[in-house]
Amino acid sequence: MNTYHIKNLEEYFQAYRESVTEPETFWGTIAEKNFSWHKKWNRVLSWDFNTPEVKWFEGAQLNITENCIDRHLSERADKTALLFEPNDPKEPAQHISYQQLHGQVNKMANVLKGQGVKKGDRVCIYLPMIPELAFAVLACARIGAIHSVVFAGFSATALSTRINDCDATIVLTADGSFRGNKIIDLKAIVDVALTHCSQVSCVLVAERTGNAIAMVPGRDLAMAPLLQKASSECVATVMEAEDPLFILYTSGSTGKPKGMVHSCAGYMVYSAHTFKNIFQYEEDDVYWCTADIGWITGHSYILYGPLANGATTIMFEGVPSYPDFGRFWEIVEKHKVNQFYTAPTAIRALAKENIEFVEKYDLSSLKVLGTVGEPINEEAWHWYDNVIGKKKSPIVDTWWQTETGGIMISPIPYCTPTKPTFATLPFLGIQPALMDENGNEIEGNQVEGRLCIKHPWPSIARSIWGDHERYRQTYFSAYPNHYFTGDGASRDAVGYYRITGRVDDVIIVSGHNLGTAPIEDAINEHSKVAESAIVGFPHDIKGNALFGYVTLKKEASEKEQTILRKEINELIADKIGPIAKLEIITFVPGLPKTRSGKIMRRILRKIAHKEVSNLGDTSTLLNPDIVNQIREIVGV
Ligand code: WTA
Repeated sequence: MNTYHIKNLEEYFQAYRESVTEPETFWGTIAEKNFSWHKKWNRVLSWDFNTPEVKWFEGAQLNITENCIDRHLSERADKTALLFEPNDPKEPAQHISYQQLHGQVNKMANVLKGQGVKKGDRVCIYLPMIPELAFAVLACARIGAIHSVVFAGFSATALSTRINDCDATIVLTADGSFRGNKIIDLKAIVDVALTHCSQVSCVLVAERTGNAIAMVPGRDLAMAPLLQKASSECVATVMEAEDPLFILYTSGSTGKPKGMVHSCAGYMVYSAHTFKNIFQYEEDDVYWCTADIGWITGHSYILYGPLANGATTIMFEGVPSYPDFGRFWEIVEKHKVNQFYTAPTAIRALAKENIEFVEKYDLSSLKVLGTVGEPINEEAWHWYDNVIGKKKSPIVDTWWQTETGGIMISPIPYCTPTKPTFATLPFLGIQPALMDENGNEIEGNQVEGRLCIKHPWPSIARSIWGDHERYRQTYFSAYPNHYFTGDGASRDAVGYYRITGRVDDVIIVSGHNLGTAPIEDAINEHSKVAESAIVGFPHDIKGNALFGYVTLKKEASEKEQTILRKEINELIADKIGPIAKLEIITFVPGLPKTRSGKIMRRILRKIAHKEVSNLGDTSTLLNPDIVNQIREIVGV
């Protein structure tokens, strides 16, 4: 059996058994047969979840870009690697072949080298979804610099926090970005961010929108002339298996964002292997993931996973609603997309629109439909299955995290029978466990608990940049010897998993993870605010939206409250980004607190959900009366 490409359920079960009984043989064989190495490993795996420390393929040497680009040149030099679809459908798409990608990545690598970037240096990439973003990511990997991509929808404050956390000294950005009919002035955001980052000595600016920008002499350089002059040859830096490949920030339930560190070899093997199987990619397929490269989905399943398999991967600059709500389907028809991977929030938004936006287009090329980022509700699942897939394209509901690097629980299409809202079975090598509140594993089926993983997989994040203790605390302290995901899940009668959602203070809004603490911190900076608490509540399109309870230092009139709501949301947009704005802001005289002063979010959540029939025991509250007062204000 070729365990690199599983083709039926029986093969899956057989390979799964091998992968958990002999994980080292299993992954060693996959790594050896399907990738190119400068030097083989001495040991496949060493690990200890208590320290915690995980090492895969120790002693091996490689460069991930040789696996994603160079090794395809003998057979696929002219095959399209990246297919860039611009925001404006009237602008032609760009087909960038493997040969061209090779040249562009090397040029960018030489430009970075020219600015003094060396192996191990951190490079902050704040670019829109344009080809330069892909070139920049791969150029860092080419020379062993650690990329830290920051989603170009984040605010200046969020950007500066991320630049400073990993001490990046160079930032790559663009003059602006196109989002539907808007132009976003990215360079101006960078300029504001850099007033707080004195260590940044160089900003490379790609040209996209052509809008007027200010260039700081001695710091800012136009990217295009440098690329033009640079050589298209750059020898790949030989990396150790466990050298860091990138840092990617994700929200935590408390404090500042966590810079998850991924390393070279394990990440490469796992992102490539999952891509091949979960999308059943065949040589001439055209694959499209609609995520932004600023998120882990874009890292693993727009760039590294597809390119390691020699795939054609689409990179879309725009939004699903521009020029109209048929854009996704127009692109599917135009490029004859075979695998389509998106988020439930996009599916829900498009399902609300006129069906003509779908019916106008020929979607018969589709073979696999994927979802990621949040639980998909039954209605959206069926719409996706009926209207987009015409019931002939299996849906892969893929559960995973920034921390896991690759897909962990998912059907394998045409192998695993799907079940609406279920992510179904663990991928090869993944050993899930459901835990009860006392830290014991819940055995058997038809059970529900907190989702943990018992054994390392190759692409598990190795640390939080600069804070290994926080890494231990967050993921390995709740359940000894287990990686804790922060999610709840159930297991049905046949052993299929269904992810029920976060069990911590992270709220997923339109597929974006938002920690409540940083939003509350932003609100509390308002001079008139005394205290605040954020909870999520169900929203038709966004999945969840944010509900803010705010107490003021001094009572405010209706009119003042309206102004305050606006100011609070502006503050949040400024500190974090527009994605974190609150849907509802309610001013309350106080927050329900325990005697130890902890805010009882459970009660606030139930009020926001309008589920007040069973508020549980409120007698232990410091201020039990406040619950009725809040209910009255909210009207439930
Ligand atoms: C949630 C995105 C249900 C989950 C790749 C997880 C999901 C968090 C699914 C990670 C899914 C992701 N079903 N929930 N198929 N996929 N999630 O780090 O709560 O942006 O912990 O990684 O998204 O989000 P992140």
